[in-house]
Amino acid sequence: MNKRPIVAIDGPSGAGKSTISKLLAERLGFAHIDTGAMYRCVALAALRRGIDPGDEAALGALSLALNIEFRRRDGEQRVFLDGEDVSAAIRTPEVSLLTSRVSSVAGVRDNLVELQRRMGERGGVVLEGRDIGTVVFPRAEAKFFLTASARERGRRRYLELRDKGLVVDLETTIAEVEARDAADSSRRHSPLAQARDAVLIDSTGLSIEEVVARMEALVGACRAGREEA
Ligand code: DC
Repeated sequence: MNKRPIVAIDGPSGAGKSTISKLLAERLGFAHIDTGAMYRCVALAALRRGIDPGDEAALGALSLALNIEFRRRDGEQRVFLDGEDVSAAIRTPEVSLLTSRVSSVAGVRDNLVELQRRMGERGGVVLEGRDIGTVVFPRAEAKFFLTASARERGRRRYLELRDKGLVVDLETTIAEVEARDAADSSRRHSPLAQARDAVLIDSTGLSIEEVVARMEALVGACRAGREEA
């Protein structure tokens, strides 16, 4: 085996996956694939085309027809949908809400999982999502399940929204995080779950640097182990 490892980072929203995956990929010199952004692209396209969110066949067909790519621009990774940079457009509350529905459609998941496998199979990649270590790459060389308490994740989300100038209530935001966790963990297709062989990292009380350093050390140890083998 001589390919560079596949690093899988799963966990609930608000655990710090995006920031940490991006930093870890930079440190390792690996590509970074934000699979949530891919589900968001399907939701954005469905919204723009006026597709009924209940029409699973149409959503499945749509996910197959789209061209989703990650490209670097000015040192930053951006998401392109059919050639258009949609990095900002996929982050609106409307798209977030629809993404949660779109990502529970089996046909959409099948197509995106296939695409994610093609993007990552050569290794040297950090993939973040909900089902990377369990479904997309169950044989990934390094697997992490990154979490934090619902209170902490709710607090982070609250600060983020408040910084954007939105009027929000802390307890309501925490309750929303708990509701989303319950929905993500109980859905029929690929529910959020920790792979048995994933390293659990609880980021409550840890700095971003501490989490990245811990992951980098573990990926380094796994690479050293493979070279010896
Ligand atoms: O990580 P995020 O918030 O951008 O994810 C957006 C949505 O997509 C969220 O509802 C969870 C879902 N998702 C998923 O079901 N599977 C993935 N691998 C990644 C995201």
